[in-house]
Amino acid sequence: MTTTVQTAALVGPGVDRVDGPRKVTGAARYPSDFSFPNLAHAALVRSTIAAGTIARIDTGAAETAPGVLAVLTHQNAPTLHRARRNVMTPPPDPPLQTDAIDHYGQYVAVVVAETPQQASAAARLVEVDYHRGQARLSAEDPGAKPKSNPYHLDMQRGDVEAAMASAEVTVEATFTTSEQAHSPIGLFATVASWEGDQLTVHDSTQNPFHVREVLASSFRLQEQDVRVLVPFIGGAFGAGLRVSPHTILAALAARTVGRPVKLVLTRPEMFAGLGHRPSTVQRIKVGASRDGALVAIDHHGAAAASVGTSLLYPIPMGTVAAYACPNVSARDTRVQLNIPPVAHMRAPGEAEGNFAVESILDELAYELGMDPIELRLRNYAEVHPQTGLPWSSKALRQCYQVGAERFGWSRRNPEVGSMREGRWLVGYGMAGVTYGHNQAKCQAQATIRRDGSAYVCSGTTEIGVGTWTVMSQLAAELLGLPLERVEFDLGDTAMPQAPYVGGSGLTAGLGSAIHSACRKLVQAFLDTAGKDAGSPLAGCRLEDVVTAEGRIVRADDPSAGERYSDILARHGLDELTADGDSSPPHGEMGTQIKSLIVSRHGPVARKLVGLSKATVPAGAFGARFVEVRVDPDLGLLRVARVVSAIDAGRVLNHKTARSQIIGGTIQGIGTAMFEEVLSDPGSGRIGNATFGDYLIPVNGDVPDMDVVFVGAPDPANPIGVKGVGEVGYVGIPAAIANAVHHATGRRVRSLPITIDRLL
Ligand code: MOS
Repeated sequence: MTTTVQTAALVGPGVDRVDGPRKVTGAARYPSDFSFPNLAHAALVRSTIAAGTIARIDTGAAETAPGVLAVLTHQNAPTLHRARRNVMTPPPDPPLQTDAIDHYGQYVAVVVAETPQQASAAARLVEVDYHRGQARLSAEDPGAKPKSNPYHLDMQRGDVEAAMASAEVTVEATFTTSEQAHSPIGLFATVASWEGDQLTVHDSTQNPFHVREVLASSFRLQEQDVRVLVPFIGGAFGAGLRVSPHTILAALAARTVGRPVKLVLTRPEMFAGLGHRPSTVQRIKVGASRDGALVAIDHHGAAAASVGTSLLYPIPMGTVAAYACPNVSARDTRVQLNIPPVAHMRAPGEAEGNFAVESILDELAYELGMDPIELRLRNYAEVHPQTGLPWSSKALRQCYQVGAERFGWSRRNPEVGSMREGRWLVGYGMAGVTYGHNQAKCQAQATIRRDGSAYVCSGTTEIGVGTWTVMSQLAAELLGLPLERVEFDLGDTAMPQAPYVGGSGLTAGLGSAIHSACRKLVQAFLDTAGKDAGSPLAGCRLEDVVTAEGRIVRADDPSAGERYSDILARHGLDELTADGDSSPPHGEMGTQIKSLIVSRHGPVARKLVGLSKATVPAGAFGARFVEVRVDPDLGLLRVARVVSAIDAGRVLNHKTARSQIIGGTIQGIGTAMFEEVLSDPGSGRIGNATFGDYLIPVNGDVPDMDVVFVGAPDPANPIGVKGVGEVGYVGIPAAIANAVHHATGRRVRSLPITIDRLL
């Protein structure tokens, strides 16, 4: 077991964002801000049908339009090669390689011109005729076929059929969730520049090393000949985990015209071009004894899938992990549709699964006449119920307790429709959250220079969550330097390799890599100082010293020590550098996934992760409490307040961690009440692909939010953290739906909960 470093000085009200001044003064540069001399601009032409083939594509008028440098279609595009497949971030189908159309908005041409206006004007002159095929656009379409699902997470334990048959109480229902678009404020952009066979790309991505890998594969280059930069990105919730085809097209366009090319997606292109959260249909049945003990859970989740690449979409993950129920069957299927690519989007699958599970438990609580929290405590999973192994740490019990107290749950009269304020019906609802984080391998480097300042870097990205800040704090703490003496940098594949920024795993992965680098750096200083028998640090090992105020001092005698700058000066060194790395304590994929996979009797997924034995399950936990108001005559629904009690392990920065939970909560309100991509049933055209038509929560929809962190440092990693990126989103939709039921007696099982569903 690793020991946890003491970072007490970092815990507290929270350090301000170190990148804040750059953002508010405009000094922070986002991918679309970058330019090169002689820059040209690209615009995309998109399919207007959902299925079929291109019968004719006429680029004549576009080619002769003012400023146009090139028009690329499947007829003249060079061969692009497919990158290596992988589980978490499968590469896209290479664009412009075929006349086949499998979704609306598929790129059929790219136009390159002197200005963005000329490029988009010429793109409108490209004429395309299609042979229309039979498009399957809805899971309810009888012609819609199941899609094979190589990464399915079907999991069983016990004998569900027998247990369900003998259960004293059963509750069963179908839940649906809507398709949601990735809508970060920053338009995704790629700026590509070639020098011979060397490619430099500024890209909106959460995964620069994967962009490098895919571009190198696409153009048959060496990876070291591709450099990807992304210092800032205007938000990303999974849209940047995979490489989108426009990134490859920007590089292709630049190579074709022999000039740097910028491609900025339009807002409608964002809706179809980045992948989206798929709609789901879930059938769930639970059986229990009269005293509230769960005896069986049967859960089938079906997610819409696009024709292209398959994705891991783990709807049943929480179902098997959350409660100590002996008999569980969770099945995970896909329905193949002619829809734009499906992507991961904040807590993909697990959030939808949680909506079904936490809603049906509320239904069961009413059936039993039992308090919803009591029902959850009655079935509390002291160990991971699928593997039987203890959690690395788990403070869900405290989440329920502290959350309920702060919310005032005891004031709740369980009778539906019993609480009122004026004309408004008042409802209290809650949901529990069990959420694993997906830590991946990470590298970092730390340097201390002659002046005693430090430089720490890793090629990760800051998607807005506080990575710049928290990693600066962590390095400062570990090296014993004031924050302003540490420069942390990121966003460049020339730096040490970092994984995808997703799955709530970066703080654990990168933080552990920085921990490793800083420890090695202190060791390097000890080695150097120890060459000099007169040094007070001579003979000291790492565990004999601590760092503070720019010095390494003996733990047993803090007056005996040396400044970093003095050690460097005495040995005539400009700096010392150390490389650090981290591996997830439980293997390369998500800890929770891995534990479950091992428990499951299917060799496919186990082989995928190369795991031979069960590992300690780790994850974040939460309890979400929501008060809603419903106007019964008008069907108006308002979220009045939200209390979130979260076990996030050690919280490195209360300000940024709280912001994560608040952001996730608002996104959860969007899922529960607003967000829904609406497509034309004939063409598959997205009818609401603008912020005027696609509803997301705005200030007036955002209530008072109370966030409290409970729990202790998690021993699963040396800095004691759990991910907070996704746990803050999960549970909100069920808590809102449960509160709506409490207020109105109406059980809404389809999201979003719109006015028509309340009238
Ligand atoms: Mo998130 S779907 O892990 O970016």
